Amino acid sequence: MKYLIANWKSTKNIQEAINWVVEFNSLLKKNTQVKNSLDSDDLKIIICPSIHLLSTLKENIFGHKNINIGAQDVSFFEQGNYTGEVSAQNLKDLIEYSIVGHSERRKYLKETDNIIDQKIAILKDYSIEPILCVRDEKDLIPKEARFIAYEPVYAIGTGKNESLKDVLISKAKISPKLNSIFIYGGSVSPENVQEYSNSSEIHGFLVGTASKDPESFIQIASKL
Ligand code: PGA
Repeated sequence: MKYLIANWKSTKNIQEAINWVVEFNSLLKKNTQVKNSLDSDDLKIIICPSIHLLSTLKENIFGHKNINIGAQDVSFFEQGNYTGEVSAQNLKDLIEYSIVGHSERRKYLKETDNIIDQKIAILKDYSIEPILCVRDEKDLIPKEARFIAYEPVYAIGTGKNESLKDVLISKAKISPKLNSIFIYGGSVSPENVQEYSNSSEIHGFLVGTASKDPESFIQIASKL
């Protein structure tokens, strides 16, 4: 099984998301190769929009057991009087996955390993699978984290993807547990994804820029 995760970040209003979904659904209907990969459990697609789009996506996306919806983050408060926070309790039943610890949150929101650790524990309590982003081997990996998305900061949104060789060197340093799902992210595109998808060491991709356009996203899916 390969995992293809879309990270739309803080982009798209409701109409833009609907446009994306309509185009995605119609491209998927025509793409028997991607449909077959989904049907045969060779591919799982996880789309992570901003919170305000989760319901719209869930209601309108092509219905398939291997097309799932995820959040980009979750509160480190479980639930309660925390104005503005969106908790795992709020999100359960809506999502199957949540990204946590993205380097942009570590940088701009000053998230620490402790905060991220707590988010992972809460997500697990609500049966939501965390997708933990790490920048390098220095970021802590709590034992409950099965999905490890390695995203070198210099490669994010720059068009400068890390070479397969260097990703594998980083993976060895990060040394994820044997049953981990090891994801690469950082300027993955239809042009470069094949370099990684041929490697059995890399189980999937976290895609920002190229996921915002359904056509390039489906093109990536067809190369896994
Ligand atoms: P990118 O973003 O594909 O635009 O590099 C990846 C990410 O930040 O998850």
